[in-house]
Amino acid sequence: MTNSKSEGMAKKRILSGMRPTGKLHLGHLVGALANWIKLQDEYDCFFMVADWHALMSEYENPEDLKANILDNVIDWLACGVDPKKSNIFVQSQVPEHLELYFILSLVTPLGLLERCPTYKEQLREVSNRDLSTYAFLGYPVLQAADILLYKAGAVPVGIDQLPHLELARQIVRKFNHLYKTDCLVEPEALLTKTNRLLGLDGRKMSKSYNNYIGLSEGPEVVRKKVQSMFTDPERIRLTDRGHPHKCNVFSYYAVFFPGMEKEAQDRCAKSKIGCTECKKELAAKLIELLAPVQQRRQELLNDKKHIQEILFSGKAKASELAKKTIAEVRDLLKV
Ligand code: TRP
Ligand code: SF4
Repeated sequence: MTNSKSEGMAKKRILSGMRPTGKLHLGHLVGALANWIKLQDEYDCFFMVADWHALMSEYENPEDLKANILDNVIDWLACGVDPKKSNIFVQSQVPEHLELYFILSLVTPLGLLERCPTYKEQLREVSNRDLSTYAFLGYPVLQAADILLYKAGAVPVGIDQLPHLELARQIVRKFNHLYKTDCLVEPEALLTKTNRLLGLDGRKMSKSYNNYIGLSEGPEVVRKKVQSMFTDPERIRLTDRGHPHKCNVFSYYAVFFPGMEKEAQDRCAKSKIGCTECKKELAAKLIELLAPVQQRRQELLNDKKHIQEILFSGKAKASELAKKTIAEVRDLLKV
C-alpha cells in the first residue's frame, strides 16, 4: 500500500455528526466514537455537533442544548477524538449549512422525504413530541447539506442512517444533472461494523429507555446498573449451566473485553461462576475502562477555554470549505 501522507496526496475526507440531545453513554462509544477514533489517522475527518438536527426534535425544550454541546464535545475528546488530527465543529456556527439546506430543498422531491423509512418510523413511535413539522420532514435534506458542503467522499454511519445517505446521493445526482455540473460529490457509506451494544434491559441502548450506562457515571452507579442486567433466563441455580450467548452480560464481555471472551464463556457454560459474581467482575472492568476517560473529562471541564479554542478553529476550517462550495452552487443558480 502506498503511504498517501508521505507522497503528499490529500486524504479522503469524511464527515460525521452526532445530535447533542443528552449525555453520551456506552452505546455512543461502541457505535460511533470508537470508529471515529480509528478513522482519524487514515482520513481527513470532520466531526460535527449536529445541533440544528437536535432542535428538529427538541425545539420545544432548547434549554439544555448549549450544555449538551459542551458536554458531548468533552466526551469526544476524553474518549480520544484528537483535535490535532480531526476537525471538530458545531453545525450552527457555520451558517452555510442552512443555506445549502434550502438550495438542496429546491430540487428534493417531496415524495422521497415522505417515504423515508426513518421519518415514518419516528412519526409512528415518538409520542412525547410533536414531530409533524415542516422542518422534521426535511431532516435528511439538512443532513445531505452537512455532507455535501464539505464534499465528503464517505460518511461513517450505522445501518439506521443508510436511507439518509441514499437520499443525499439522489439529491447529488439530480442537482448535478439539472445544472450540468459535477460540483456536488456523491458520498459513500462507511458502514460501522457494529458491535451492537444492547441496553441494560436488552433493548437498544437509549436515553429514552433509561437503560444505558453513561460515560460520566461513577463506580457506584455502574455497579448498580450492571447488577440490574438481565441474564440467561434458563439459568436459575448456580449449578445450572449457563448459555452465554443468550446473556446480555456476556455480550458486554465480548464487546469491551474481547481478551476475556473465552474465559467468560467457559466459566458460564461450565457453571464455574455465579451471575452475581460474573456481573461484579464486569462492573469492575467497566469502571476501570471508564476511569481514564472520566479523568480526562475532569481536566477538560477545568479548561473550558481550551474547548472553545478547539471549536473556534474547527469552525474556521469548516467555514473555509463551506464558503467555497456555496460560491460554486450560487453561481450555478445565478444568485
Ligand atoms: N442524523 C445523524 C444521527 O442521528 C446525525 C447527523 C447529522 C449526521 N448530520 C450528519 C451523521 C451528517 C452523518 C453525517 O445519527
Ligand atoms: Fe450471564 Fe455471566 Fe450469568 Fe453466564 S454467568 S448467565 S454470562 S451473568
